[in-house]
Amino acid sequence: MLAPSVYLLLLATQALGGHVVKQDATCTVHPSGNFTDDSPAIVSAFKLCGQGGTIQFVNQTYWIEKVMNTTGLNNTIIDLQGTLLWSAANISYWLQNSLPTGFQNQTSAWFLGGNNITFDGHGFGTFDGNGQIWYDFTKGVSNLAGRPHALTIWNTHNSTFKGIRFVQSQMWTMTISASSFVDMLDIFVSSTSNDSQPARNTDGADTLDSHHITFRGWEVHNGDDSIAMKRNSSDILIENSIFYTGLGVAIGSTGQYPGEYEAIERVLTRNCTFIGTRYVGYIKTWTGVQQGFPPNGGGGGTGAWTDSTFSNLTMQVAQITQCTTFSGAVGQCDTSTMQISNITWSGLKGNLLASSVASLKCSAAAPCQDLKILNSSFTFATNTTGTYSCHAVTSTEGFTC
Ligand SMILES: *[C@@H]1O[C@H](CO)[C@@H](O)[C@H](O)[C@H]1NC(C)=O
Ligand SMILES: *[C@@H]1O[C@H](CO)[C@@H](O)[C@H](O)[C@H]1NC(C)=O
Ligand SMILES: *[C@@H]1O[C@H](CO)[C@@H](O)[C@H](O)[C@H]1NC(C)=O
Ligand SMILES: *[C@@H]1O[C@H](CO)[C@@H](O)[C@H](O)[C@H]1NC(C)=O
Ligand SMILES: *[C@@H]1O[C@H](CO)[C@@H](O)[C@H](O)[C@H]1NC(C)=O
Ligand SMILES: *[C@@H]1O[C@H](CO)[C@@H](O)[C@H](O)[C@H]1NC(C)=O
Ligand SMILES: *[C@@H]1O[C@H](CO)[C@@H](O)[C@H](O)[C@H]1NC(C)=O
Ligand SMILES: *[C@@H]1O[C@H](CO)[C@@H](O)[C@H](O)[C@H]1NC(C)=O
Ligand SMILES: *[C@@H]1O[C@H](CO)[C@@H](O)[C@H](O)[C@H]1NC(C)=O
Ligand SMILES: *[C@@H]1O[C@H](CO)[C@@H](O)[C@H](O)[C@H]1NC(C)=O
Ligand SMILES: *[C@@H]1O[C@H](CO)[C@@H](O)[C@H](O)[C@H]1NC(C)=O
Ligand SMILES: *[C@@H]1O[C@H](CO)[C@@H](O)[C@H](O)[C@H]1NC(C)=O
Repeated sequence: MLAPSVYLLLLATQALGGHVVKQDATCTVHPSGNFTDDSPAIVSAFKLCGQGGTIQFVNQTYWIEKVMNTTGLNNTIIDLQGTLLWSAANISYWLQNSLPTGFQNQTSAWFLGGNNITFDGHGFGTFDGNGQIWYDFTKGVSNLAGRPHALTIWNTHNSTFKGIRFVQSQMWTMTISASSFVDMLDIFVSSTSNDSQPARNTDGADTLDSHHITFRGWEVHNGDDSIAMKRNSSDILIENSIFYTGLGVAIGSTGQYPGEYEAIERVLTRNCTFIGTRYVGYIKTWTGVQQGFPPNGGGGGTGAWTDSTFSNLTMQVAQITQCTTFSGAVGQCDTSTMQISNITWSGLKGNLLASSVASLKCSAAAPCQDLKILNSSFTFATNTTGTYSCHAVTSTEGFTC
């Protein structure tokens, strides 16, 4: 009788794409190398070695033509030595088959998750979403239904992702959803367009329904939120990172779903550098009155952003913060009941490219409280001392509206 690994090898070669060699608890995926779909081999490696084993990707390029759902892993090591390259040759396939994330009608190319996962890219293992094709196809439309996120880390606990490069993501790069105690370390993200179509909605990372998430040692170049906290995210640490060209650290958007309460609590951003981002940290909430429907309309939800700090940041940005309660809609500005309180910016230094330091258009229905800008020194690209514009802000420290 054949040994199991040999048997699997023979079985796998019947498929057109890559194949898996299993030895003990390690599954090594070998790509076809000729642009035939390697996703069936990858999914089978996770099935064979995703409970207490290792999934090994060699230093070659894998070609992925189909969605993948590899959730429910346990005590699993994923070792990425090569490049995972997503096909965008069949746009209609992705529009029809991308996996729903349960938020803003958005979808994903890959759902990955489980307990005690170590995903190591060693600083060179790469996700390549072939994003230029998507940027050209969407022509700047923000939420095109079915345009996939690169990766959704779902229902994942006590896990580490490190040393991974994400280039040219199809849309949002990764969302950490329904997860806790996940460390995202030394991650490089670059999604930029080489023509006049913007790399819009290419967030570096988003958190959703997740707690105790650490982002350390990130470098992000993109055309949207560098890292964003959405619906029910708490105890988030972002440190020792550098952000280029995007929008900076974002809270929201929140309040898009009528009747839902969304809390963003205890977000600490420290020792980071922001170069050419629009903001350091900003919040966008929907109006308290619903106007239209998700994904591109909404409002009427409520919630809170509290107890968060931005400290020891170096920057060259347009302004440090903007709080706006009427994202995407006209009027009804004073209706949001999203409570923003106890937010501190401290130890900031660097150059502001405009005269506005902060623009805080809060809502009269729930004024912003305890906003502090402390121990900071700015220089300005223009001849100004800086302005702070406020609406419905009840208490400030370190600055005057
Ligand atoms: C691609 O490679 C696989 C094996 O990895 C092989 O089965 C298949 O025939 C090749 N396809 C083409 C078009 O060369
Ligand atoms: C991966 O392979 C390429 C050639 O295909 C080589 O240039 C590169 O150094 C290899 N990287 C590592 C980390 O082994
Ligand atoms: C994970 O695997 C360990 C060891 O086999 C086992 O004790 C534990 O119950 C598993 N956890 C889950 C969630 O399957
Ligand atoms: C986590 O998984 C690794 C193998 O990937 C294992 O060595 C370790 O014991 C696991 N930790 C726990 C707490 O189960
Ligand atoms: C593209 O995907 C669509 C939808 O899944 C499918 O019907 C069609 O056959 C695919 N086209 C090619 C060339 O594979
Ligand atoms: C992924 O697979 C799991 C297990 O089969 C299933 O429960 C889950 O709904 C799937 N997720 C998506 C987004 O399809
Ligand atoms: C988005 O999903 C919501 C439910 O979550 C649904 O009511 C709405 O019709 C969907 N919108 C679109 C444009 O598909
Ligand atoms: C995560 O680890 C903590 C402590 O190490 C443990 O108490 C908890 O059960 C683990 N969570 C899961 C989902 O395995
Ligand atoms: C601050 O972050 C940089 C990386 O951007 C790192 O080299 C440095 O060690 C960090 N400083 C502290 C005090 O952690
Ligand atoms: C304000 O938030 C900080 C964390 O940013 C926290 O340490 C402090 O206790 C909070 N203050 C109040 C009054 O809740
Ligand atoms: C900020 O920097 C100061 C001096 O460089 C240091 O004492 C302090 O611990 C730092 N704070 C944080 C939160 O990193
Ligand atoms: C800067 O503005 C002040 C007051 O508006 C003005 O007196 C001063 O001449 C300006 N300096 C330059 C270099 O334009």
